[in-house]
Amino acid sequence: MGFILAAAGSAVGLGNIWGFPTYTARNGGAAFVIIYLVLVFLVCLPVVLLEIAIGRRTQRNPVGALKMLSPGTAWNLVGKMGVFCGIMILSFYIVIAGWVFGYFLESVTGGLERLASEGEFGRFVGSPWKNLLYMGAFMVATLAIVVGGIKGGIEKWARILMPTLLVMLFALIVYVLTREHALAGLRFYLVPDFSKLTAQVLNSALSQAFFSLSLGMGALITYGSYMSKKENILSSGFIVALVDSAIAFSAGLLIIPAIFTLGPGVEAGDLAQGPGLIFVVLPQVFMNLAGQVGYTFASFLASFFFLLICFAALTSTISLLEVPTAYVVDEKGIRRKKAALITAGIVTLVGLGSLLSNGASHFFTNFLPYPSGQWQGFMTITGDIFFETLLPVGGCLLSTFTAFIWKTGNFSKEITRGFPEYAGSKLEKWFSGIVYVVPFVTFFIFINTVLQKYFNIQLF
Ligand code: PHE
Repeated sequence: MGFILAAAGSAVGLGNIWGFPTYTARNGGAAFVIIYLVLVFLVCLPVVLLEIAIGRRTQRNPVGALKMLSPGTAWNLVGKMGVFCGIMILSFYIVIAGWVFGYFLESVTGGLERLASEGEFGRFVGSPWKNLLYMGAFMVATLAIVVGGIKGGIEKWARILMPTLLVMLFALIVYVLTREHALAGLRFYLVPDFSKLTAQVLNSALSQAFFSLSLGMGALITYGSYMSKKENILSSGFIVALVDSAIAFSAGLLIIPAIFTLGPGVEAGDLAQGPGLIFVVLPQVFMNLAGQVGYTFASFLASFFFLLICFAALTSTISLLEVPTAYVVDEKGIRRKKAALITAGIVTLVGLGSLLSNGASHFFTNFLPYPSGQWQGFMTITGDIFFETLLPVGGCLLSTFTAFIWKTGNFSKEITRGFPEYAGSKLEKWFSGIVYVVPFVTFFIFINTVLQKYFNIQLF
């Protein structure tokens, strides 16, 4: 259970609750959801398996692992890119996690009504000092776990809190679906309109899938390196992908219909332009609920829900900090405590740019103009480069490495350890074959992303 819990803990996080509904709303709804699920199981699952296999085979961090499998070549740069992506992704992730923590503190102290008021999200993210405190608190908690070695405790909590999150999601879904106009939202979420299928939808679906599964930067190589040889890589990887998709899908099923209940004229796509979608929608859902169950109880439920999201985010920030830390410990020979402190320091410093890029500082809020002259904030840029562009590149390179350098025979051999029936099975043929396809699909989507995001060129 240890590996599955840790990997699922890494996978389930803000990507599911914050990212998935946001990208679904931005990309026209059901068509996005379908493409997402297809990509998870066809393109991402093989990468999940090969990352775990590389990690377990070598028992090393991503850089050390590639050095060991292909000594004297440049392949370890893929690991270095992963380490760098981990630092950069954590730098904005922790800011958003801080917002969730802030929303918890506000609602537990009676501020739910204010959170639900018009324009509050903009005011909230525009106040730098408060957010610095929230982000700092989150960083300290992450650091304490990564250096304190209380991972066993976290796993125990994950075992209780992840199902609790799912139950709470379900209860809220049932509530929201009985509201007026919710069915229009359900239709938007579930009935595909494939004319909305553009290059952007495909790009977003792939990068969101990589992000949500913690793929493409070696997080699963690192966790795989701690996995016992007796465990079944295939079933573990499959369960992680399934749990992660189930929670993302449920979060969408809650948030998307909830947008439509906010009233006529609220456009899902408009509301999801910035990072604020769930921060605008959720307080209103709970305020609505207050009409039935009273303000105090609704505030209690809201606080509890934000706390659950904080926990989900924490098990992800741990894995994001773990990758660079494991690299520094193994490859630079620095003690774990010092390594984690140095990495956390760098992350926090870079994170200030994201913290200030939502209105607090003009410089960071209008950092670079692209694709055609629109000013983007530091946080958006970090997300565009390290999450939307480079994670799929990591997946492309790791699958290329597995297919052509490490070779599928070795990949199969590692899965067969702990799952003897795999040898010679149809499953083995499938995964050994698909590993040759994944590099091409991800490469094509990468080109597509670069053209669309940075040059405003739409291939379709
Ligand atoms: N998968 C995490 C989430 O969905 C984010 C993450 C990405 C964690 C990459 C580790 C590595 O929130």
